[in-house]
Amino acid sequence: MAAQKIKPTKGGKIIAIDLLPIDPILDVTILCLNFMEETAPDQIQAHLTEKADILLSDMSPATCGIPNIDHIRIIALVEAAAEFAMHILKPGGAFVAKVFQGGTQAELLARLKQSFQKVQHFKPPASRKESAEIYLVAQGFRGNTTAYPNL
Ligand SMILES: C[S@@+](CC[C@H](N)C(=O)[O-])C[C@H]1O[C@@H](n2cnc3c(N)ncnc32)[C@H](O)[C@@H]1O
Repeated sequence: MAAQKIKPTKGGKIIAIDLLPIDPILDVTILCLNFMEETAPDQIQAHLTEKADILLSDMSPATCGIPNIDHIRIIALVEAAAEFAMHILKPGGAFVAKVFQGGTQAELLARLKQSFQKVQHFKPPASRKESAEIYLVAQGFRGNTTAYPNL
């Protein structure tokens, strides 16, 4: 969907990552890596020639069935994705991530609200009603970070 919207032939660039192999997608750079590994941000950054317009995360861990552990793993992924977004986005950029029922942790939400003009939760029609998933949508990045100065 992103490749159709971004039109890489007109200068757009898409980098996709997953722990598991992804079938090739035309004009999309695919990296098979664990986003939680310490080197992952640098590996992704190596493919960026400029700051990004948007970071989309549909990451969710394999669940083990123990609610507290599953919850901690999901939160950790969302927080890591948000942290990375705040390092790589252009001013005005957006961050969208899958979170689960109960929404985003208050602390992360407060941080995102400082860094983005608009932060909301959204359940798209394509998401099954019985699924606990919901999406966090943060728009209008204020550009208030100095990390990753090479971009
Ligand atoms: C709900 S699925 C996303 C499916 C994808 N949107 C699609 O349409 O195929 C969640 C994905 O997150 C990936 N994932 C979970 N933890 C990850 C991690 N630490 N690093 C990278 N990918 C991860 C899983 O391998 C899985 O493919």
